[in-house]
Amino acid sequence: MPFPPRAGRNAAGSVGVSHGTDRPFRRLSSVGTREVNVTHVLVIGASKGIGLETVKAALKAGHRVRAFARSAADIAISDPGLERFTGNALDSGDVVAALEGIDVVVQALGVPASKLLGPVSLFSEATNRLVPAMERAGIRRIIAVTGFGTGDSRAAIGLLQRVPFRLVFGRAYDDKDAQEMRIRKSGLDWTFVRPGVLTPGAATGRYKVLADPTSWRNGLVSRADVADFIAGEIGQPAHVRQAVVLVG
Ligand SMILES: NC(=O)c1ccc[n+]([C@@H]2O[C@H](COP(=O)([O-])OP(=O)(O)OC[C@H]3O[C@@H](n4cnc5c(N)ncnc54)[C@H](OP(=O)(O)O)[C@@H]3O)[C@@H](O)[C@H]2O)c1
Repeated sequence: MPFPPRAGRNAAGSVGVSHGTDRPFRRLSSVGTREVNVTHVLVIGASKGIGLETVKAALKAGHRVRAFARSAADIAISDPGLERFTGNALDSGDVVAALEGIDVVVQALGVPASKLLGPVSLFSEATNRLVPAMERAGIRRIIAVTGFGTGDSRAAIGLLQRVPFRLVFGRAYDDKDAQEMRIRKSGLDWTFVRPGVLTPGAATGRYKVLADPTSWRNGLVSRADVADFIAGEIGQPAHVRQAVVLVG
């Protein structure tokens, strides 16, 4: 095990071990024949979807990962660099405990499709807890998954898609707007990852990273490709204080 954990504080009900407060930011390690900068990453929303794919991609890149979710115990990955952390993103105590010793935060929360037609406040409420906790802990880097259609990319939604998009995703995306605004207002080094329509399946590496607002458009992209982009940003931040749209 390259980075032995030590006993430390952990949230009630968490499994695994805490790695304490020492911060091995950009410690060198070997993955195969490559030397990589090792970062201690907190993935919030790590049990499914993009979050789970990010856990896999970050571990593959040689980073240490604390995987945070209410069902973190169910994450079926065996890797010495993985720590499962059972917690609720709406519980400030869980969030503060999970930030201990962390260099980079990936926020990949989602709400089930069945809840999209009701009021959605998960994204903003979780962010209102996370951002001040990061600032207090002195952690600057956050990579937040929102979606194509959030914030200033709303104007890029095609005319035919606008009405159905608002009907189905309107409440969630209003809340994602609030999430992005809260992060923008902070002094954090943020990147907003705005995927198009998510698909299952393996990473292709053939996705497009659209950083220029005039190029923003909708399209399909696999969760694994989104995770590949996020893992790249963890190792080598190239889009700090930028929103990027990802499509295949
Ligand atoms: N579907 C699309 O086409 C599309 C397009 C663009 C953007 N997006 C956005 O991409 C993001 C990821 O979507 P996804 O489908 O890959 O993921 P997902 O399957 O919705 O997974 C959501 C994750 O959030 C966690 N979570 C939810 N509430 C939580 C809480 N209170 N505390 C801690 N963890 C919590 C869940 O874990 P637990 O339940 O175990 O806590 C799970 O790990 C979402 O924000 C989604 O809106 C989706």
